[in-house]
Amino acid sequence: MKENTHRIRAEELVKKLTLDEKIGMVHGAELFRTKGVERLGIPPLVMSDGPMGVRQDFEPSSWHPIGTSADRVTYLPCNSALAATWNRELAYDTGSVLGEETRGRGKDVILGPGVNIKRSPLCGRNFEYFSEDPYLTKELVVPFIRGVQNWDVAACVKHFAANNQETERLWVDVEVDEKALREIYLPAFHDAVKEAGSYTIMAAYSRLNGDHCYYHKGLLEDILRKEWEYDGVVISDWGGVHDTTLAAESQLDIEMSVTDNFDDYYMAEPLKEKIEAGEIDESVLDEKVVRILMLMFRLHMMEDEHHPGSRKRKRGSYNTPGHREKALATARESVVLLKNDNKRLPLNPEETKKLLVIGENADCTHALGGGSAEIKALYEITPLMGICSFLGGNTEVTFAQGYVRNEQQEETDTNWQETSLEDGGGKVREHHTDEKMLKKREALRREAVTLASQYDDVIFVGGLNHEHDSEGNDRKDMKLPYEQDVLIRELLKVNPQTVIVLMGGSPVEMGEWIEEALTVVWNWYSGMEGGSALAEVLFGEVNPSGKLPETFYKKHTDCSAHAIGEFPGGEKVRYKEGVFVGYRYNDTFGVEPQFCFGHGLSYTEFEYSDPSIQEKDGKIIITCKVKNMGDREGKETVQVYYAPVDRKSDQPVQELKGFEKVSLKPGEEKTVSIQAEKCLERTEVRIGSSSRDIRASIFH
Ligand code: BGC
Repeated sequence: MKENTHRIRAEELVKKLTLDEKIGMVHGAELFRTKGVERLGIPPLVMSDGPMGVRQDFEPSSWHPIGTSADRVTYLPCNSALAATWNRELAYDTGSVLGEETRGRGKDVILGPGVNIKRSPLCGRNFEYFSEDPYLTKELVVPFIRGVQNWDVAACVKHFAANNQETERLWVDVEVDEKALREIYLPAFHDAVKEAGSYTIMAAYSRLNGDHCYYHKGLLEDILRKEWEYDGVVISDWGGVHDTTLAAESQLDIEMSVTDNFDDYYMAEPLKEKIEAGEIDESVLDEKVVRILMLMFRLHMMEDEHHPGSRKRKRGSYNTPGHREKALATARESVVLLKNDNKRLPLNPEETKKLLVIGENADCTHALGGGSAEIKALYEITPLMGICSFLGGNTEVTFAQGYVRNEQQEETDTNWQETSLEDGGGKVREHHTDEKMLKKREALRREAVTLASQYDDVIFVGGLNHEHDSEGNDRKDMKLPYEQDVLIRELLKVNPQTVIVLMGGSPVEMGEWIEEALTVVWNWYSGMEGGSALAEVLFGEVNPSGKLPETFYKKHTDCSAHAIGEFPGGEKVRYKEGVFVGYRYNDTFGVEPQFCFGHGLSYTEFEYSDPSIQEKDGKIIITCKVKNMGDREGKETVQVYYAPVDRKSDQPVQELKGFEKVSLKPGEEKTVSIQAEKCLERTEVRIGSSSRDIRASIFH
């Protein structure tokens, strides 16, 4: 059926519906499902969380997992990992796996991707988000959504908009100026809607400049519907609606929540009563239902009587070998080699006869954590498993835990989501350690350090876990938890060759030991094959090509949200830093990061030459030659930054405007061509290997 006939058909159909039937379609009748209208062949709309895979199934009205094996799935690298690949094709592939599995699991809407900007390294949900940079985010989000929607399912880009912290997320009022909103916080949503055509969008829990996002006129009506001409479906965040009239008369289409009193939802019985009493015009409800029906036609969920065969819908599939391959391919390119002095890495597998692996993160899984993004993975290769299986039987691998987390995850009867709306929906989490735990850690540390002094090859795998990178809480600071700084310092003292691997969705402080460490490898929550990919990188089977999609600050106070703005704020949080987010702040105000935006080393070296610039069809084409100077195949991401020559005070010194990833054999040279937007003023066009490793520049 043609797009323009969707509305006509939907408008015809809505006339046949009773008030009750329409009400059933605009609110959750189960935790992840609305009501359908059987007599007219209208199915319910079935949703599930993302974005690292399709979430496990719950009972219709309780957060009890169904608990069969049928909802195990492919566990994909988190969005931060995907962003570190700087690879649009992998973004498409990841979206496509997610879409095929969403359909394969019988869902209509996948609640992702999360595209909020990483404003502070302390936001607990950063692992679900891509980057601090709007350009990098949108360049990856667009193919991701296309990949998803290719499978007759809808993406639900979230959380619209400026929802950049967990603390008080239900009520916090984000005060942000128009320029920052337009240049930093909205572009990814704009492109998700305009370029990728995301069929649905989720309104954020929080307030924006005074009003809650679920009914925000400026955001939903003026920008989304009018300016961006959006006719897709706006879904509330779970429990994000607080008033019937405001919701009904806004551009919100579906109200979802976390409790089982479905008829009491604001857009359920209360809405019906207000319509019957004449307080709310039924036409506002009709328009919402029309948009929901249009979505159903787009997804081929319904047979259109005028177009037989229109119900032919892709059936999807999940847990296929191909999906695992794609998860592995992304994981491989997501590993970021932050430091590699004396070419300590890669290790030689043939020469590694005895290896000591230290650290709790080497031997634990992360999939089933983090909040609504949890994944019941088919399996998850841990770093230890990946290393052992890569090395095989000729190497003796010993493991020492080295440190332990505070609370072991306890099996409880309640899912956190049931109570997720209490206390403002989130807070800065304090982690308390008692004497007993400190003693336990000391013993583990002593054991690991003693062993490390006896080994030539030691790999430490530490970092964060989903007690820290988690929905509903923000971190207090960037310090490594569980006394890991002490452990790393001691390890480096007895064995200066120790390879340091850290995992997490946001940076950690490294100042206490970074000077002593030869190597630091950053590994995100990188999906079911993450451990395999890490092993391949450490032992040189794969040449690392990840680049940081965010600034790794020395400490959180070096980030503008903390230095100039507020985080997490109180009732209000003022984004006083304006557009100076991430490297835009550090580069403009001369604040040295630990590792800058766009940074990531390789086992080979790349040489840049012959930069040139051309204008074509209103766009700028930047070209340069890149040559692989080493003896290993490798991939390089060439980055283009615009630096205005006569910078105004509200402009950052430079901003990412283009990038291209290129693969080069040893000695090979290629011409890389990057398309970027027209310069609006005299600009220094910088071509670099990172935001602070500029190899060439041209004035334009
Ligand atoms: C989260 C959303 C999620 C929803 C449904 C909320 O707590 O903020 O991102 O999609 O729950 O689980």
